[in-house]
Amino acid sequence: MIADPTSARWDVLGFGAVTVDDLLYVDHHPLPDEKLQVRTQQREGGGLAGTALVAAARLGAQTAYCGVLGEDDLSHFTRQEFEREGVDCTPMVQRAGARPIHSIVIVDQSTGQRSILFSRDGFVEPPGEVITDELIARCRALFVDHTIVHAGLRAADLAHAHGIPVIADLEQTTVPRVLELMRVIDHLIVGIRFAERVTGEHDPAAAVRRLSESRACCVVTAGQQGCWYSERGGQVRHVPAFKVPVVDTTGCGDVFHGAYAACLARGDGMSQAIRVATAAAAIKATRPGGRNGIPNQMTIDSFLREQNLVD
Ligand SMILES: Nc1ncnc2c1ncn2[C@@H]1O[C@H](COP(=O)(O)OP(=O)(O)O)[C@@H](O)[C@H]1O
Ligand SMILES: [Mg+2]
Repeated sequence: MIADPTSARWDVLGFGAVTVDDLLYVDHHPLPDEKLQVRTQQREGGGLAGTALVAAARLGAQTAYCGVLGEDDLSHFTRQEFEREGVDCTPMVQRAGARPIHSIVIVDQSTGQRSILFSRDGFVEPPGEVITDELIARCRALFVDHTIVHAGLRAADLAHAHGIPVIADLEQTTVPRVLELMRVIDHLIVGIRFAERVTGEHDPAAAVRRLSESRACCVVTAGQQGCWYSERGGQVRHVPAFKVPVVDTTGCGDVFHGAYAACLARGDGMSQAIRVATAAAAIKATRPGGRNGIPNQMTIDSFLREQNLVD
């Protein structure tokens, strides 16, 4: 008997930002009116949701992306990258003129500093009618971000009706209704800058305390300082970042989210999910590029074994 494809289960279904990043490596940042040769150039997939889903897939999760793409090169590239990583693209919607977010990243090779120019032309939220009860019921964990607030609110609502946990990455406080979305998130994982803006607290532990009320888990990440978290509004704990030789921190936060979501979907507790996410993000920091450096479960396991010997 042929299995009914609609009954397939995903561990993590994601909605949100997918980007195509064109990295241009130059000898120094261009001055006004200057002509400057590009030394090397590289195209990579990125985005909060995009990289989180790839990270979850590398950890062995069955993942899927629901977004709107068109027929241009950037859309093709995004689809190809997802397919290569095993991210299921069947929930995607095809629409003429739709595109992922496109970034030109100018990297000064002498300092490692980068400037990012991005365009959201053609980036659209999935329309309400594709976010059905049937779609959402097929996942064990739902991921959303601030780039698709309306879709996120609808998806979260449906997820809650099925007892499916909702994980979010929010980076911008000024997007309409983003605070409304924040209120319905079960596992809120945000960077310190967002947490500061939304709570007015500079201390990450104080920000966690303010944001953790009535949700399963709140995590505030602070780069090489690690993260602070609280489960169900309980005691705030600090998890230091692993000390690693850092090469490139692009995508660390996205990898953290994806690893956390994969762990949650397979039934790990929140503190275990945070430990694995902290390890996944640290390993990523030791490798160049956004998605390229994302570790698989085996690499994370051996990294954690080594760290346990050191601890
Ligand atoms: N330099 C680093 N060394 C080790 N781990 C890091 C480093 N930077 C980030 N991480 C890990 O990645 C997590 C998320 O990073 P952060 O910079 O807060 O997010 P974002 O990339 O969204 O700005 C941190 O909590 C930490 O665990
Ligand atoms: Mg981030």
